[in-house]
Amino acid sequence: MKYFKLLFVIFAAVTMLVACTPNKPKTVGIIESPEKNISAQLFLTADGQPGYLVKFENELVIDSSLFGFDFQNLPPIKAGFKVMNTKNTSFSETWEMPWGEKRVVENNYNQLFAELQETQAPGRKWNITFKVYNDGLGFRFEFPEQAGMDEVIIMDENTRFKLTGNHTTWWIPGDWDIYEHLYNTCRFSEIDALSLRGHESLAQTYIPENAVNTPVTMRTKDGLHLSFHEANLTDYAGMTLKINPENLMMESELVGSDRLGYKVKRSLPFSTPWRTIQISEDAARLIESDLIINLNEPNKLGNIPWFTPMKYVGIWWDMHLGTKTWDYASGNHGATTAYAKELIDFASENGLKGILVEGWNTGWEHWIGFEDREGVFDFVTPYPDYDLKEVVRYGKEKGVELIMHHETSGAPRTYDQQLDTAFKLMHSLGIHAVKTGYVGKLIPKGEYHHGQWMVNHYRKVLETAAKYDIAINAHEPIKATGIRRTYPNAIAREGLRGQEFNAWSADGGNPPEHLPIVAFTRMLAGPIDFTPGIFHISLDPYKENNQVNTTLAHQLALYVVINSPIQMTPDLKQYYEGHPAFQFIRDVPVNWEQTKVLNGEVGDFVTIARQDRGSKNWFVGAITDENPRVISVKLDFLDTGKNYTATIYKDGKNAHWAKNPTVYEIEKLTVNSSSVIDLNLAPGGGAAIGIVDVK
Ligand code: NOJ
Ligand code: CA
Repeated sequence: MKYFKLLFVIFAAVTMLVACTPNKPKTVGIIESPEKNISAQLFLTADGQPGYLVKFENELVIDSSLFGFDFQNLPPIKAGFKVMNTKNTSFSETWEMPWGEKRVVENNYNQLFAELQETQAPGRKWNITFKVYNDGLGFRFEFPEQAGMDEVIIMDENTRFKLTGNHTTWWIPGDWDIYEHLYNTCRFSEIDALSLRGHESLAQTYIPENAVNTPVTMRTKDGLHLSFHEANLTDYAGMTLKINPENLMMESELVGSDRLGYKVKRSLPFSTPWRTIQISEDAARLIESDLIINLNEPNKLGNIPWFTPMKYVGIWWDMHLGTKTWDYASGNHGATTAYAKELIDFASENGLKGILVEGWNTGWEHWIGFEDREGVFDFVTPYPDYDLKEVVRYGKEKGVELIMHHETSGAPRTYDQQLDTAFKLMHSLGIHAVKTGYVGKLIPKGEYHHGQWMVNHYRKVLETAAKYDIAINAHEPIKATGIRRTYPNAIAREGLRGQEFNAWSADGGNPPEHLPIVAFTRMLAGPIDFTPGIFHISLDPYKENNQVNTTLAHQLALYVVINSPIQMTPDLKQYYEGHPAFQFIRDVPVNWEQTKVLNGEVGDFVTIARQDRGSKNWFVGAITDENPRVISVKLDFLDTGKNYTATIYKDGKNAHWAKNPTVYEIEKLTVNSSSVIDLNLAPGGGAAIGIVDVK
């Protein structure tokens, strides 16, 4: 009887196994990072749908997640695939950034390339590539050349990311028109992007789904950090990630075009952008990761010697404070030759190499708030009180370059038609950088800032600018996806809530935790034109209900924390004059030999050390959120056996972002590689340190 029972159990188990086996996913390939800390597995489900999973130190971080595409006039790409071929390869190189947060970049990965084909008609071919690095991975889909399919019209991409827990998430909504939202912090399942619709301080906004924009950063309960983004966004729509709270899953939701009725149209062959996951045990390493930039094509422009990384002043903060206007008709026009010359003198006296002049060209009487904004700006006609040539000439005499300003006011077709004319004028005057802007709802109606049509516009501007030796700092841009590697004239962009929100946002501006979150989210994508360095924190008497919500020392530290080859010195010049802390802004470089993130926690604090590219000097910036904290900075990155002078700009006694933001102290110390500096950061505070070799 006993044996009979046992036999029965064995029989039942075998039957179940046999019954289950056909449903088990079949592994297509496994690929590990060079250090073997990360692995990705590509599989086919029983019905032939491809998917993947990711492990970190042998623990699942992305559980089995499927791939798929929906098309117009074609059956979806989903199930029914077989593997035709797979290939594992390795790659290792170093390359140099012409400017940036470091000079030498290591690019080491292992790759899995899989060729798939549908078993049934129409028998489409479809390839998937995984590149696995020590700091994360990227994968993308290729639609190879094939008979019977010349182009695809993508209605959506259905790439999934199945999480393994209800992680703490730092996110902004999946707005198709703007990234200028505050970051939210909550558990993944509590993400509610729809509640953020209709923010009164946004010039344009469209949040169709409960989705987030990328980079979106998460921390697991075990303290592992993940950040999801995309790399090399070329001729494709930007990707938002739709939240599935019940299944702890995200799914790609591409930005669409209501005008065209689809999301992406491409001729074959083509590849999608890389879908990226940065993985790190601590938050600090996320900032050091080169994954996004490494997943882009090599430099097509060479060293661009005509572009000088620089700090710049501007006729700009005046307008945000309301002391002057962009338009001429108001009678209080900011962009006058006289004011530009005054600021050029100020820049020149303080070693600042650039000046941005906004509101110099005709059209500002008819921009924001008007429906018919096409054909308004022409980018070549100055207002009568602004002598463009004279400003350029005077600047050259004083060693200060003009940064041109092209506000399109959300009318990209007008800009597109005039690109060559506008850039020719700049070229003829020897102007090598332009800040572009796309404020307001886009014309034509039905297009969004982050859709394929605009992705292509932003790229055309970059490529055309390159022909005229011009670098682009785009506001209201498409997100950074590492394109600066291929086109190093993509020097910086906005694409976040900048300093300007502190001047006028109805919600009181950016809270102290803003940059301690931005450093681990938006900044992972690439350089930011944030415009740090407001000294007159209270904004009194210009603004009643707004102020800058940090201490002055925090503002200084941002010049090191924020990565950008152009950093503004935005405050009205009278608030810098006679201020000892201004010396730090004079001294701090914008182009770096190397970067070390010393510590940090997302949303709490971060300390970054960067070494100047020109000298051996180091600079350190530490910032905190609304909580005070003591940060120990070990100077073990300094050369051993050498003495340095450290000048520390720190929060003064009782400093506080709201109650007492402008008290600071300056201390000088002799330090070496075994020194440790303890910094007392005030609530909303920070510290900035310049460390100079004692010769
Ligand atoms: C929005 C930009 O972010 C801001 O910097 C600029 O001053 C205005 N647009 C006008 O172009
Ligand atoms: Ca903006």
